[in-house]
Amino acid sequence: MAKKIAVFASGNGSNFQVIAEQFPVAFVFADHRDAYVLERAKNLGVKSYAFELKEFDCKEDYEAAIIDLLSKHAIDLVVLAGYMKIVGPTLLSAYEGRIINIHPAYLPEFPGAHGIEDAWQAGVDQSGVTIHWVDSGVDTGQVIKQVRVPRLADDTIETFEARIHENEYQLYPQVLESLGVGRK
Ligand code: GAR
Repeated sequence: MAKKIAVFASGNGSNFQVIAEQFPVAFVFADHRDAYVLERAKNLGVKSYAFELKEFDCKEDYEAAIIDLLSKHAIDLVVLAGYMKIVGPTLLSAYEGRIINIHPAYLPEFPGAHGIEDAWQAGVDQSGVTIHWVDSGVDTGQVIKQVRVPRLADDTIETFEARIHENEYQLYPQVLESLGVGRK
């Protein structure tokens, strides 16, 4: 049986777009009702759901609503792609070992919400992209695959960032395929 994936994103959704062009995506979930990823999903004909943590009494209830969606669609693998929330114990205990994340740095270097900016500010001559299993820490789970991305002498933060994203767009499809997710 083909592995069913759901993609979670918080904003732009360019990684979602690359994935959805190559793999069947059962649905996309956005934790902001105005996230641009929802527009992308509509254009690609991918089902989407959006609701916000602040609409619930607590994170446990919010994540219980997410679990309902995942079980309703019989999702095998949760693909975080710019989902800027920490996965809490409710979702993690239900799906541990079935959630992966992409991070725009070479972990354990520059974890957190600003991996590209932090590497740039630190003046590194190389950073990278990492895809890892999600555990209870912040960007601490077991690495599945990572690549180095150089910072070139004439880079601006914009050209450096664009190179990181280009590498993300290559790496996520490779990893999904290696995990047994069938292409379209
Ligand atoms: C990506 O660069 C992803 O690696 C990063 O957010 C961006 C989302 O872009 N994720 C993190 O920083 C997680 N800590 P996108 O919405 O255009 O795919």
